[in-house]
Amino acid sequence: MPVVTTHKDGDVLVVVSDNPPVNALGAAVRQGLAEAMKTAASDDSVKAVVIVGHGRTFFAGADITEFGKPPVEPGLPEVVDLIEASAKPVVAAIHGTALGGGLEVALGCHYRVAVPSAKLGLPEVKLGLLPGAGGTQRLPRVIGVEAALPMIVSGDPISAKTAEAAGLIDRIVGEGSLEPDAIAFAREVASRSDHPVSSKRTDKISGTDPGVFDRFRQENARRLKGFEAPEACIQAVKAAVDLPFAEGLNKERELFMKLVSGTQSAALRHNFFAERAATKIDGIAADIQLIPIKKVGILGAGTMGGGIGMNFLSAGIEVVMVEREQAPLDRGVGVIRKNYENTAKRGRLTPDQVEGAMAKLKPTLSYDDLADCDLVIEAVFENMDVKKEVFGRLDTIVKPGAILASNTSYLNIDQIAAMTRRPESVIGLHFFSPANVMRLLEIVRGARTGGAVLATCMALAKKIGKIAVVAGVCDGFIGNRMLTPRQREANKLILQGAPFDRVDQVLLDFGFPMGPFQMADLAGLDLGWNKETSKGASIRDLLCERDRRGQKNGRGFYDYDEKRNRTPSPEVQQIIREFAAESGEDQREIGDQEILERLLYPMVNEGALILEEHMAQRASDIDVVWLNGYGWPAWTGGPMFWADTVGLGKVVEGLEKNAPHMDKAFRMSALLKSKAAEGGRFNT
Ligand code: 3HC
Ligand code: NAI
Repeated sequence: MPVVTTHKDGDVLVVVSDNPPVNALGAAVRQGLAEAMKTAASDDSVKAVVIVGHGRTFFAGADITEFGKPPVEPGLPEVVDLIEASAKPVVAAIHGTALGGGLEVALGCHYRVAVPSAKLGLPEVKLGLLPGAGGTQRLPRVIGVEAALPMIVSGDPISAKTAEAAGLIDRIVGEGSLEPDAIAFAREVASRSDHPVSSKRTDKISGTDPGVFDRFRQENARRLKGFEAPEACIQAVKAAVDLPFAEGLNKERELFMKLVSGTQSAALRHNFFAERAATKIDGIAADIQLIPIKKVGILGAGTMGGGIGMNFLSAGIEVVMVEREQAPLDRGVGVIRKNYENTAKRGRLTPDQVEGAMAKLKPTLSYDDLADCDLVIEAVFENMDVKKEVFGRLDTIVKPGAILASNTSYLNIDQIAAMTRRPESVIGLHFFSPANVMRLLEIVRGARTGGAVLATCMALAKKIGKIAVVAGVCDGFIGNRMLTPRQREANKLILQGAPFDRVDQVLLDFGFPMGPFQMADLAGLDLGWNKETSKGASIRDLLCERDRRGQKNGRGFYDYDEKRNRTPSPEVQQIIREFAAESGEDQREIGDQEILERLLYPMVNEGALILEEHMAQRASDIDVVWLNGYGWPAWTGGPMFWADTVGLGKVVEGLEKNAPHMDKAFRMSALLKSKAAEGGRFNT
């Protein structure tokens, strides 16, 4: 069956594309569309054309898997030109998503109708690209620069309603009657003497304020920092204003070709597929029966418990929240309400939605209220004895078959599971703080965790908007485990003479939002520190002993003013020098390259150890964790993809060269070494 078919409805030619799952505009679809336009031109009985997608969606864009491969004719820009050049009016009938090349096809059409639930956007920038089939030239001509710039540069889609208001959609049609309504619309416009041609329009771009581009750059500078594609998008839109259409199109093409062959786009495309690959679980049948989750119990209403609960409330799932005492329970519920009310103040929730979410929350001091929950997530103190006691108790109370999960950051899920008579129902669900905001969820698969339990948690993660990655049971799972060698090396570097603010700066320059010492200040240096037992055995002990607790009291590695501006503390620098001398560390000048290698290469090595021990299913899962949980810069593709671009040989060379200075805990991964020796990569 061809992916593009045509049929006649009276004098309207209906062109149907059906290329599951998302109607991507691969070669066969492009060829089919080009053929259909020839049919429309040669058949005198055809007065108008409707292009419609069957299945989930109108076109969701070019086929991303084709990038980097030899091009197959016809290219998408030619197909769009062909549609636009049709003497007979062409109507795009949009449902689902018209994204990227999909919206560009729609812009080549003379008219666009859409169902109310449709979304329209040019997300190419998120893949490190710009719309390369005329989108940067046609969209501003259709809706003006002020509306087109944010759409192209953010890549975020807009609703059919917003699109109609902007002039991108001519008519919103019935949700269940797209095709007949589009055909009726086509018949209605067929008798008109001329039809709007996007590339020929000037009404929306003439008189564009030339200052709009610089203003936009300034207003968005922070958000766009580090990425190449947004600037290329801005330049292409500027070309739409400054140049005739054909020349603007050339400019778009030139910028597109440069981006598509660059490392940033390769990395961002990797991230797209990595996120989707992470949802696939080895050894579990795709059609496994999931456990219905209608009611979720949360144990502990502290920092994590409250945030975790909000995820479910926001998804319309009932939550029972249990605490030890009334005061922390009230505090936890208060924080949830305040968070929702703040969101409402920003206009992103209605007061009714706030009350609706709160009505689904049942705060209680009784474990018995957890009895009929389908899933209970424990978020009490990070202490094995406490967790063991809690799981033993949960096992006796919560109904058989229900999932018992722990939000532990480091502890052994198998030992926790052993306290129950249902280890197959025990799993780790490691949320990140703030849990209602951060998208990453590490799902920790215990030795005896059942397939249905794992698959249910994966599906639930998607439902609550999380990006889930499966990890094995090891100290710190994937993310925190890789943080450990970085922190160890950061501590070592400052003892050996690298100023702590320089260490932070090297990571900021690489693209991280924060360096290790800024992070330590933010988390609080006294986390887990005890005044009575402190022996001045580490820099952290020494800082806490001098009441340098971090941002919370305005003094940590840095001194903070009332606006939280930071300056490196000379007192801390002196403390480090003295401590280094006492510990017998020789101080020397350390260059930025060494700092970078010593912070990041051991992380890559730890990632390789994680793979070697099968604690992650695939290298790209590790990238997903670091990209979404720890601020690893997206344009480098995550630690493992980045290592591939550096060259694994170079990583091993760097580790061997730096080994004499590195923390003694470092252990080279055999997998990394062998891959480096054979010129291999982690991501193939
Ligand atoms: N090309 C190839 N494969 C694609 C694809 C695309 N454009 N979009 C999605 N897929 C694949 C996914 O990899 C996934 O495959 P899998 O099942 O094997 O893992 C499958 O389609 C389903 O995708 P999702 O799991 O993402 O499905 P959702 O329903 O959650 O989301 C979507 C649907 C919103 C369309 C989302 O897939 C998406 O955002 N796709 C990318 C859209 C995009 O970036 N378009 C621009 C492409 S670049 C372009 O058009 C260049 C042009 O200007 C020249
Ligand atoms: P927290 O100290 O803010 O909250 C813990 C809450 O549990 C307290 O309100 C306490 O009263 C309650 N509690 C203790 N024992 C209880 C019991 N037996 N029954 C009911 N309630 C009980 O701690 P936080 O930060 O929320 O951490 C919870 C868990 O989440 C820990 O395992 C931690 O390692 C993990 N985690 C923490 C992250 C963070 O950034 N804070 C990130 C990811 C995981």
